[in-house]
Amino acid sequence: APPRGRIEPPTLVAIRQAAALLRAGDIVGMPTETVYGLAADALNPEAVSRIFAAKGRPADHPLIVHLPSAEHLPRWAAHIPKDAIALARAFWPGPLTLILKRTSEVPDEVTGGQDTVGLRVPSHPIALALLQVFDSGIAAPSANRFGRISPTTAAHVHEELGERVAMILDGGPCAVGIESTILDFSRDVPEILRPGAITAEDIARIIGRRPRVRGETAPSGVAGEAANDAATDAAAHGSAAAAATPAPRVSGALAAHYAPRTPLRLVHAAQLADHAAVLAGEGSRVAVLAHAVPNPDDSRLIWQAMPADPAAYAQELYASLRALDALNADFILIEALPEGLAWRALADRLGRAAVGSGAAAD
Ligand code: TXA
Ligand code: MG
Repeated sequence: APPRGRIEPPTLVAIRQAAALLRAGDIVGMPTETVYGLAADALNPEAVSRIFAAKGRPADHPLIVHLPSAEHLPRWAAHIPKDAIALARAFWPGPLTLILKRTSEVPDEVTGGQDTVGLRVPSHPIALALLQVFDSGIAAPSANRFGRISPTTAAHVHEELGERVAMILDGGPCAVGIESTILDFSRDVPEILRPGAITAEDIARIIGRRPRVRGETAPSGVAGEAANDAATDAAAHGSAAAAATPAPRVSGALAAHYAPRTPLRLVHAAQLADHAAVLAGEGSRVAVLAHAVPNPDDSRLIWQAMPADPAAYAQELYASLRALDALNADFILIEALPEGLAWRALADRLGRAAVGSGAAAD
């Protein structure tokens, strides 16, 4: 038999092999336009449990089910509001996950026992090809060990999961680079649980009203969530409040997530060079992720430039964090992001990365 964990070019033969492995209850690395997924047959509870074992993820964290097309929705979603249909028409295939009431066919292992299920049709051609050959739902969280940086290349998946996966389909680097927008339709008002490339404004343009965005307002009675959001927002802007330990969220979007092993700090552009110089002066090796790279003359400083455009920044972010983490520096400093809607999903991820950084791998 071919070795487990091998990276395969996405030929039709390899795609058929991946579908056969899924049918046999095994797990495979699958490219999507957002990040790579760890795929299993969503209707096979044993296969789904292999995802949790491979990731080291708590079993109560629900998984997103990927579908070949919106035509598959009725099998998985018990109630599909008309706004959800309009959004599926507008943004599928693409980086939008809809949380809907589930049907009884969806295993508890997928939903963490909740009465809802997360569904999306990805736009990556290899993901779509695999879904079409498989012709059913594929459960796939990001293909990283629990709490760590999501993979955006096949090599990253191999680094994270090695032989825990049967094979990895190589779809090249992910075009979007951060995880899908998650929009919850299971309660009275649609609410964004996780920001992504599709923004609240994009959604408002289709459904005629702006969805609630978790973290933007603090409804009474959810002080824990408000504190959580305050911590991640503060972290994204380089504030000391990021040091607070927030409570986990109901949605499973933990504050400490997407995290490198190296302690990570977000620092305002104006203070970045000084902050790095002070740490280097104390004898620390410092890796810096910034929009502009000055002329460094200190060998203890490693600078990496990031694009000024938010979409390009998102595409490169996780690979850059991974590369800086691999340097085993004492600190990673990241230039705090500009204000503005286009940066919101990235500020969310960097905030979580800062809160979770420096911890031992789990
Ligand atoms: O872009 C993406 O969404 C990637 C690619 C592979 O599709 N997937 C991804 O999956 O990011 P994962 O498992 O790493 O993150 C899914 C998030 C989790 O925070 C989970 O708690 C939330 O979606 N989620 C899934 N089902 C849910 C549900 N029924 N209710 C609330 N949150 C849910
Ligand atoms: Mg994930």
